[in-house]
Amino acid sequence: MALRTLLPSLPKLILFSSTRNSTTFCKSSPLNRCVILNTCSNFRSFSTDNNFMVLGIETSCDDTGCAIVDSNGTILGESLHSQLKVHLDHGGIVPPVASDLHRAHIDQVVDEAIKASGVDIYDIAAIATTNRPGLPLSLEIGLLKGKQMARELGVPFIPIHHMEAHALTIRMLEKDVQFPFLVLLASGGHCILAVAQQVDKFLILGQTINNAPGEQFDKAARKLNLKVIPGLENVCGGAAIETLARKGYSSAFPFSTSMTQYQDCNFSFAGITMNLYSHVKKIQKKFDLVDGDILPGLEDLCASYQHAVTKHICQRLQRAMEFVDRKELIPLGQGPRAFVVSGGVASNRYIKMAMEVICSEYDYKLYAPPPRLCTDNGVMIAWNGVERWKAQSGIAENLDDVDFYGKCPIGTDISQEVAAESIKCKWIKLKALRQMSEFVYLDEAQR
Ligand code: KG4
Ligand code: ZN
Repeated sequence: MALRTLLPSLPKLILFSSTRNSTTFCKSSPLNRCVILNTCSNFRSFSTDNNFMVLGIETSCDDTGCAIVDSNGTILGESLHSQLKVHLDHGGIVPPVASDLHRAHIDQVVDEAIKASGVDIYDIAAIATTNRPGLPLSLEIGLLKGKQMARELGVPFIPIHHMEAHALTIRMLEKDVQFPFLVLLASGGHCILAVAQQVDKFLILGQTINNAPGEQFDKAARKLNLKVIPGLENVCGGAAIETLARKGYSSAFPFSTSMTQYQDCNFSFAGITMNLYSHVKKIQKKFDLVDGDILPGLEDLCASYQHAVTKHICQRLQRAMEFVDRKELIPLGQGPRAFVVSGGVASNRYIKMAMEVICSEYDYKLYAPPPRLCTDNGVMIAWNGVERWKAQSGIAENLDDVDFYGKCPIGTDISQEVAAESIKCKWIKLKALRQMSEFVYLDEAQR
């Protein structure tokens, strides 16, 4: 029988024992932990000053992830089960299928992470789990597991905002990324430009008004049927397009630039993808092909599409940097300011190279986690738990009150303020990047 059924008031008791600087709970069996709280000699006390460990669980979309990370940012153990292949075969993510797969793998993934860490699970200070935003059916599975573990171990529970976790991952790896910093979160579900002011305080400068760049890369890859190309059978759309684009010329196909009439920092990628579709149609007509056939000039088409997405992102980024300067949102210190890019799309080397060009003009240093930590994983959730535990912010007071939310803003939306400034930019030319990347990529491909 679940401990909660035996003692309904247990979580409250234990969670209320967590003070600003320390949390006390018993290391021995769950039952005596609740009865003799604060007096048992077996209790271990954790301080935010001491080295502590957090277990993180991620199930917001199609990756089942778990990791244990300590307060110094050392990854002690991790495990990840990707559903990518199944969804590629389905032609996109089917939420009930994603949920079933999370349910089938969650226990094993958590067990593997704990085993890999070699840690005594009773030494964990807190459990962190993504509860927002994401696919509700997927979030539910991780949340159930995380809450169940927190109850059974009698440790605090930290609900995590998935995009906050993407934003903060870099601070686990680069200690010189301090608040405030500029951040672009680009993934399969989001595109957000923000100033991260604190662990729990973000100013949203702009975000996508319709769809996210990762989602569009996935759609484009499906339209081009890239999964039948040898070597690309098991990779996501964005990675498939980047791989082909490396061997193509990004100026081969014309693409119009998105949203140039709006002087804000919002994004829209749908028009760029429609532009791609019309190129596909023309090529199909010219060569008498149908949907699913591999197009001639595919590498050039991918390179040109990737460049159009990159240009749109860079223009919004440039305006965001101008706005930050105008409003003095990030002080000029001794060295360059930090610009962080994260989320699955931040794995893209071409996009990062372009953003490097913008950063050097505006005196920013670009930081991005390695690709395996850009895409969804348990490590970022555990680290977000560490950050929140250190700040003693957002720790659940009552487990019963913690729910999951498909949609949830990450901070204060000041995009209207950005638009009201009507900032005109002298666009930084990405021509040099075009030539440079074509040289680098073509050289790599020995073409
Ligand atoms: O952050 P993430 O793993 O999941 C979400 O939170 O959405 O991002 C997944 C997205 C996918 O849409 C995928 O196509 C995209 O990230 N992605 C890339 C690359 N690798 C992954 N997009 C562009 N270039 C890449 N190399
Ligand atoms: Zn993500």
